[in-house]
Parts: sequence; structure tokens; C-alpha cells
Amino acid sequence: MTQDGLKQYALSSAASHKTPLYGTAIGTSDLTLQPRSRAILRHCNLVTSEYEMKWDAVFRHSHEPDYAAPDDLVAFARDNGLAFHGHTLWWHESIPASHRESSDKVFAEAAMQHLRVITARYAGQLHSWDVVNEVLEPAHGRDDGLRGTRFLNAMGPDYIGIAFQEAAALDPNATLVLNEMGLEYAHPEAERKRRAMIALLERELSRGTPIACLGIQSHLTAMEQPRHHPDLRAFLREIDGMGLSVMITELDVSDHLCPRDRAERDRVVADTYRAYLDLVLEESTVLAVTTWGLSDDRTWLNAFRPRPDGSPQRPLPLDRALRRKPAWHAIKAALLKAAAHRNSTISD
Ligand code: XIL
Repeated sequence: MTQDGLKQYALSSAASHKTPLYGTAIGTSDLTLQPRSRAILRHCNLVTSEYEMKWDAVFRHSHEPDYAAPDDLVAFARDNGLAFHGHTLWWHESIPASHRESSDKVFAEAAMQHLRVITARYAGQLHSWDVVNEVLEPAHGRDDGLRGTRFLNAMGPDYIGIAFQEAAALDPNATLVLNEMGLEYAHPEAERKRRAMIALLERELSRGTPIACLGIQSHLTAMEQPRHHPDLRAFLREIDGMGLSVMITELDVSDHLCPRDRAERDRVVADTYRAYLDLVLEESTVLAVTTWGLSDDRTWLNAFRPRPDGSPQRPLPLDRALRRKPAWHAIKAALLKAAAHRNSTISD
């Protein structure tokens, strides 16, 4: 059954850590719909939680946490031999409503409690964790480029180091990831963010913060994302030089700037996937490539970035009927190329 899925190209055996896994974001609704869960098993060897592991999701009904949904997701991965990427421990966008107004002290204690309980609950079962998400925002004007958030206000800039230390103590086997958006874009603010990221990682690594991997979200836009991107290339080389691996954590290609014609859209989206993946896979030790959904009916982009003409976005590898699109073939070709390159490097 797996013979012709993407997971075949994302080699998960043999020199495993040397070849990228391929995965998708999922929710519990994907597990009950047979065609979708079958497609996940056919194409993926890693899954991540799109939202049900987030702090606000776990506390959505009351002051008591509810882990039923993340338990189901982790069990699905375990029962089917898929790696699981935890998303995400601390993110300013996923603070439970009950803590939006709480005092700094109460907030800091609750954040720590959440991190400890959920990390311990799944310890030993996860491939990796996005420990913190989107911590940089140079436009907020701080010298260190940190985003002004409740976490920063309540705990100070050490909060990133604290989160990683706690997570490492509770789940020493998970690869700990610092996940960020907008590092991959071409505009001047993105370059500021890349510089701030290098400085942040240097600071944190020099004080022993156990960051193993940089998560690059990679929510791309077709007709905007440059095919050649020397600044991103240089940045990835610096990250590699620091001994960090990379995960492409939330890849999709918005087609909101593309013409309506479907074939044309699919072609431009696929080209964007291919050029981007080729570049990142060439420059980095990529542990996994994850798309933010597998089929177009599961994209968040129709809400977040609707097309001006109202037609549904086509940003993912499969269409609504779970048929392969040019994007699927582009990902396959990029993974095959990376695997061939790595195998030749290994046997050198
Ligand atoms: C999005 C999910 O796709 C939505 O379903 C949810 O409502 C909001 O979050 N960056 C992230 C992800 O790190 O967690 C976001 O996911 C997309 C942007």
C-alpha cells in the first residue's frame, strides 16, 4: 500500500537520520475519515498536530486540561509506526482565554505547569517538539529582536532558555525545535529576522540552551517567493555551521496571487515547492518536511488568506479528491534528489 506514497521517497530506514521524513499536520477529524487517514498512511512517515496540542486547545472547555484529542493523535502515530512532531509548547497565539488577563506571576506558573505536564505526558513517544513558536518580531523594536509577548513580559528574555531546559529534562529523547515564521521570505524585514535569529541562536547556544533544530515554518506565497534566494542560502549555511539541523515544519504555497486557471495555478504552486525545497535541502540537514495539511480541503488558507476571486485555494500536494497534483510530484522529485545526494555523500 505504501509503495507509491511520498513516504517511499522520504526514506525512513537505513541511514535514517540522514534522510528527511515527509509528514503532514493532522487533526482528530482526519483519523475518522477513512480516505483521509489512508492517504496519510500512504504518503507520510511523520505527523504533527495542527492545533489540538496547543495550550488553548487543551484548556478550551474549562480550567482542567483535556488531553483526549492529543492522546488520539499520538496513539494513531504510534499504532501506525509514524513519527510524531509535537506542536507547540509556548506560542503567544495559543494562550487560554483564562490567562489573557492574569497577573504575570500566575501566567508564568500556569505556562510552566502546562509545559511540564504535556511534555511529561508524551515523553518518549515524540520524535520532536516545537518548544517555542514565533519568538522573534524585529518590528517590535527591541535590540534582541524578541517579540513582545506575555511570555516575555512575565518571565523576561530567559523564557526561551527555560522552556528548552525544562523540555529537555522531561523528554531527553525528543529533538527540541525552535520554530519560526517569515525566515524564508525575500523582503527586508525577513532579512532583519534572519539576522536576529542568528544572534538569538548564538546567545542561547553559548549559554547551553539545548536547541537542536531550527523549525522554518515555510508558509510560502506563489509568485512572491523568489526562485533564487541568496540571502536565505547564506542564512541556512550559517545555521548549518552552528551544528543545527532544520525542520520544514508548516510548508504550504498560497495561490492567492495566481490567476484563476487551475492548471496554471497548480503549475506555479508546484514550481514554488520545487525551487524552495531544492534550495533548503541543498543547504541544510533537514530532518523532516511537513506540509500544513495533505489535501486542499484541509488547508487553513481559505480562512487566513482567501483568494480575491473567492475560488478555493489549491496550496497542498493532493486535491480534494486526494489525487496527486503537480505539487506532489515536485515534493517527490525534491526528496528523491536530496536522498540521492545524501546517499552519495554517505558512501563517499
Ligand atoms: C493554525 C492552524 O492551521 C489553524 O487551524 C488554527 O486555527 C490557527 O493556527 N503558524 C503556526 C500554526 O505555527 O500553529 C498555525 O496553525 C499557522 C501559522
